[in-house]
Amino acid sequence: MMRVRTPGQLNVGILASGRGSNFEAIADAIERGDISAEIKLIISDKENALVLKKGEERKIPVLCVKPEDFADADTYERTLIEAFRSAEVELVALAGYMRLVGDEFINSFPYRIVNIHPALLPSFRGLHAQRQALEAGVRFSGCTVHMVDQGMDTGPIILQAVVPVDKDDDEESLANRILAEEHKIYWRALRLYCEGRLYVEGKRVLISEKV
Ligand code: GRF
Repeated sequence: MMRVRTPGQLNVGILASGRGSNFEAIADAIERGDISAEIKLIISDKENALVLKKGEERKIPVLCVKPEDFADADTYERTLIEAFRSAEVELVALAGYMRLVGDEFINSFPYRIVNIHPALLPSFRGLHAQRQALEAGVRFSGCTVHMVDQGMDTGPIILQAVVPVDKDDDEESLANRILAEEHKIYWRALRLYCEGRLYVEGKRVLISEKV
């Protein structure tokens, strides 16, 4: 069993493609003093992503890095790694980042890239998780914060939250119910990093008692 990190202030980087509500929930938790962390940099692969505007409003450094401006995915990702490193980011939180991350990126931040997925993994990986849940007829769905590994939504699970699926739900209503839970668990998962309470053994994450 390996301890992921000892307790202490956490420097966070955000990688996002869109609206940025999960970023806001994390930033709010930091402002409230619920986690001892600082968001050092937000990077988006999309120029018009709302998350960039929201970051600027909070006086957080933002950067747009577009994959299409690079010869290949490796060069693009190397730019992300360097930007996060020079901002002294220790942990990268994917918050609605609509791409897979490559090996070099993963190896540059071992056990320190996390993602939030709008389903109870390992069910409904990939895109349109809420639609997949509705189509499968499940009675409950939810969200998962996990460490990112080479696969798509396959890494070690840190926290999950469950929501009921109502018979009248459509994709939007289910997504909204799940999103409210995302906003509660993402920062709590980061707090576990801050508190040094995470241990990993294979695919299992163990959370130690608070001391
Ligand atoms: C969320 O549903 C998250 O689970 C998924 O992408 C969406 C991002 O929303 N990975 P936002 O940009 O954080 O508002």
